[in-house]
Amino acid sequence: MLWSVGLLLVIVAAVVIDTCTVDPVDVVFVLDSSGSMQTTGFQSERDFVKQFTDLVQIGEKEFHIGVVQFDTQGFIEFNLTAYFDKTSIKNAVSNIVYRNGGTTISSGLSKASDVLKQTSRSSAVMYVVLLTDGDLYSDKDATFSVADQLKLNPALRIFVIGIGMAVPTEDMKQIASSASYFLHVNQSAELAAAVSATVKITCEPIEDCASSPCQNGGTCETKHPAYSCKCPYGYSGARCQDYDECLSNPCYNNGTCYQGRNLYYCMCVPGYIGSRCETNYNECSSNPCQNGATCIDRVNGYTCSCVPGYVGVNCETDYNECASGPCQNGGTCVDFVNFFQCRCPPGFYEDLCETGICHPQPADMIFLLDSSVSQTEQNFKNQLHFVSNFTKQVLIGPNDTQISVIKFSSDAMIEFDLNTHDNNISLNEAIQSIQFKPGITRTDKALLKAYEIADSSRNRLRPNRKRARVFVIIITDGMSTYREDTKNAAKELKKLNLEGIATIGIGNQVSHQELRDIATSSSNSPNVFSVDNFDSLYTIVTQLVHVTCKECSKSAVSDVILMIDESVNTSDIESLKVFAGLRDTASKLIQFMDTLGNKDNDTHVSLTSFSNNVTTHVRFSDNLSRSELLLNTSRILHKENVISNISSALFYANMHGFDETNGGRVEARKFLVILTNGRFNLDLYFELEKERSLENKIKIITVGFGSNINVDQLQIIATGPYHVFAETDDSSTNLEVLKREFMYNSCNLDFTD
Ligand SMILES: *[C@@H]1O[C@H](CO)[C@@H](O)[C@H](O)[C@H]1NC(C)=O
Ligand SMILES: *[C@@H]1O[C@H](CO)[C@@H](O)[C@H](O)[C@H]1NC(C)=O
Ligand SMILES: *[C@@H]1O[C@H](CO)[C@@H](O)[C@H](O)[C@H]1NC(C)=O
Ligand SMILES: *[C@@H]1O[C@H](CO)[C@@H](O)[C@H](O)[C@H]1NC(C)=O
Ligand SMILES: *[C@@H]1O[C@H](CO)[C@@H](O)[C@H](O)[C@H]1NC(C)=O
Ligand SMILES: *[C@@H]1O[C@H](CO)[C@@H](O)[C@H](O)[C@H]1NC(C)=O
Ligand SMILES: *[C@@H]1O[C@H](CO)[C@@H](O)[C@H](O)[C@H]1NC(C)=O
Ligand SMILES: *[C@@H]1O[C@H](CO)[C@@H](O)[C@H](O)[C@H]1NC(C)=O
Ligand SMILES: *[C@@H]1O[C@H](CO)[C@@H](O)[C@H](O)[C@H]1NC(C)=O
Ligand SMILES: *[C@@H]1O[C@H](CO)[C@@H](O)[C@H](O)[C@H]1NC(C)=O
Ligand SMILES: *[C@@H]1O[C@H](CO)[C@@H](O)[C@H](O)[C@H]1NC(C)=O
Ligand SMILES: *[C@@H]1O[C@H](CO)[C@@H](O)[C@H](O)[C@H]1NC(C)=O
Repeated sequence: MLWSVGLLLVIVAAVVIDTCTVDPVDVVFVLDSSGSMQTTGFQSERDFVKQFTDLVQIGEKEFHIGVVQFDTQGFIEFNLTAYFDKTSIKNAVSNIVYRNGGTTISSGLSKASDVLKQTSRSSAVMYVVLLTDGDLYSDKDATFSVADQLKLNPALRIFVIGIGMAVPTEDMKQIASSASYFLHVNQSAELAAAVSATVKITCEPIEDCASSPCQNGGTCETKHPAYSCKCPYGYSGARCQDYDECLSNPCYNNGTCYQGRNLYYCMCVPGYIGSRCETNYNECSSNPCQNGATCIDRVNGYTCSCVPGYVGVNCETDYNECASGPCQNGGTCVDFVNFFQCRCPPGFYEDLCETGICHPQPADMIFLLDSSVSQTEQNFKNQLHFVSNFTKQVLIGPNDTQISVIKFSSDAMIEFDLNTHDNNISLNEAIQSIQFKPGITRTDKALLKAYEIADSSRNRLRPNRKRARVFVIIITDGMSTYREDTKNAAKELKKLNLEGIATIGIGNQVSHQELRDIATSSSNSPNVFSVDNFDSLYTIVTQLVHVTCKECSKSAVSDVILMIDESVNTSDIESLKVFAGLRDTASKLIQFMDTLGNKDNDTHVSLTSFSNNVTTHVRFSDNLSRSELLLNTSRILHKENVISNISSALFYANMHGFDETNGGRVEARKFLVILTNGRFNLDLYFELEKERSLENKIKIITVGFGSNINVDQLQIIATGPYHVFAETDDSSTNLEVLKREFMYNSCNLDFTD
């Protein structure tokens, strides 16, 4: 029933204070203090509250009155326990200041709710009396929501008095506890007429079980101050309006269910997500595993399956393969990802330096040093350094390499015999104390002394019952005083069938003819070495070490990529000559390679050239013969004004060059021979590609040509110091060494027997 003011006017006179049958009663007035009320309107609201106060019984056990007002915000003027007498309440109401602002009804209701929560009595029937002339506008949802919250309490009612023509009647009815709790007046002046109706409302007994307030089959019990609902299993709330979803165990995987009003939520155990904890959280989704590892999701965790070479929870640590000390014979271990490399001391080879090329096969090395006038004292000292350096490349000892030195000028003198010094320290002291003694060049006498020593060595067994291989190394300018005698002495020496006689030409005027006469030949190349200066003796030292180790020069399976630097700088006349020289050098290598062929166990060659990228001329799978390879090599053309990109060259070798699609063999040793003078800059990809080549076990050998070689650069590119070769126009001795390199490195022979 909608109350009308006309009806109310009739009722007013009949209302007396003592007709109230329900108490205690807590009433909170919510007064509209917005601008539209105007001062007079707000005054009417104040009067309304005062008149109400006059009509009811105020006291600790009877009516309690509180007031809030709102404009844009809500304000608590006084709470339900502030005053317990009419005068105080009316004074307080008179003192309420009109705010003259906007209209936010929800904030007024919220404040009323606060007052009730804080100061209402549990035994009391509660009323919120809202007076307003306003519209809800955007505050509608919030207002309904606050009102609904309040109305859930069975002992609470909202009574709304709409003032003026603009009031949205339907909305106000929705705020009110029911349509019958809404009253409309046309203007604020008519509020006075509504006082007694309001009193009557608040004095009525609260809605009882007759209205069937309990939902979902709840049973209603009449109680003071309001009915209460006894809910069936699963339902809760004052009116059994809430279903307890948790009863159906909606949370999976041991999640805990929490029941809220009309909703529940699941608190999941660690590792699960989803509104019902139905999903095992994929800890892998954050990609925690590093370095290419595979992530395996587990409940509340993950496991990284590392690629070989990495360890750690997230595979973050490069496993140090060197930790176990895998390198033998004093090799230095260098750790890479999933790979280590042994840097072997001189004389040791293979992956773990386990194979000593020159060990344990004993060797006798007889050095003949030229002390004639044609040598300066400095040159002689350099010879001594050379021998000394050589001793560091081999193992000195009674079962290993032994060294004898013969100095010659006008005479030949045995400085010490092979077994005089059986350790490197005393041997080196002896070498360094040899004095320069100039005279004429009696190479013949030196060769005769060498004959004596070599002959006795041939018949001597070492402590380990092995016979040594004997080498004679003559360092001279080849300008002996008695040429014919020298030749004859050499002929005698050769009759001993020694392992090798090598000559090293030094000085400005070397007689290559004499050096060749003295030296023995190995296969198609004589053991003749010539050097312009002693700085390049290092290479020769390496060669000599190899000369002493012929056992290993057996057939080997090697894949060799020859890669010629094709870049030519047209402003630099030399550079075209360098290109031609590099190409010739490649041809020489092809000629010298003993094991070259297209059979399974032969050395296979792929021919390429590079500048800013790599061009493949011949693949391993082309199976070309030696002469075809030479022809293809001769057809490689230079490129003008392009840069040489060594990173791209290494990239090619790492990615494609040795591939099976190119005819590369999985089991073969991989050699990348880069022919270049190294006159270019390395870019930032170089280190990476170099490291990859080590991982791929590609041995990089650099060969330079001409006088303008950047040796430092060639060293950086090459796998190690043994892998750098510098070629001059007329010599091919270095290539001989290189050829052996291909073979030694693939040597798997056991030297011990
Ligand atoms: C109610 O109002 C009185 C008087 O202003 C005050 O002392 C009391 O703290 C208030 N109670 C609450 C719960 O705010
Ligand atoms: C309120 O105003 C409406 C419309 O002008 C009118 O019909 C109604 O009679 C008025 N009520 C009172 C009590 O004046
Ligand atoms: C749930 O808890 C029980 C008892 O502690 C346990 O046996 C079960 O494995 C748990 N299930 C899950 C998915 O964690
Ligand atoms: C001498 O040989 C020993 C044992 O092989 C070695 O440790 C040492 O470094 C060598 N000394 C020189 C000066 O070569
Ligand atoms: C040389 O070899 C023999 C027999 O193998 C051994 O007894 C001797 O100790 C070795 N000498 C040295 C210095 O290693
Ligand atoms: C040879 O030894 C000398 C002195 O011991 C040294 O200065 C020189 O660098 C060494 N040369 C090489 C190539 O090792
Ligand atoms: C080419 O050679 C000229 C002269 O030597 C030099 O100035 C120039 O830097 C070189 N260009 C390149 C790309 O190397
Ligand atoms: C190379 O292989 C051929 C046949 O495949 C065989 O006859 C020959 O003995 C092998 N050579 C070596 C050195 O193993
Ligand atoms: C190599 O470089 C040249 C010049 O930049 C370019 O024309 C050519 O396409 C490149 N070749 C390849 C295979 O990338
Ligand atoms: C190499 O040269 C041969 C003979 O001239 C020729 O038939 C072949 O096409 C060339 N091969 C390559 C890969 O250039
Ligand atoms: C090269 O030899 C291999 C093995 O003998 C063979 O499979 C391949 O077809 C040959 N390639 C050519 C181009 O003849
Ligand atoms: C060299 O080649 C690599 C690999 O192809 C490339 O990433 C790099 O940019 C090149 N460097 C220069 C300086 O051209």
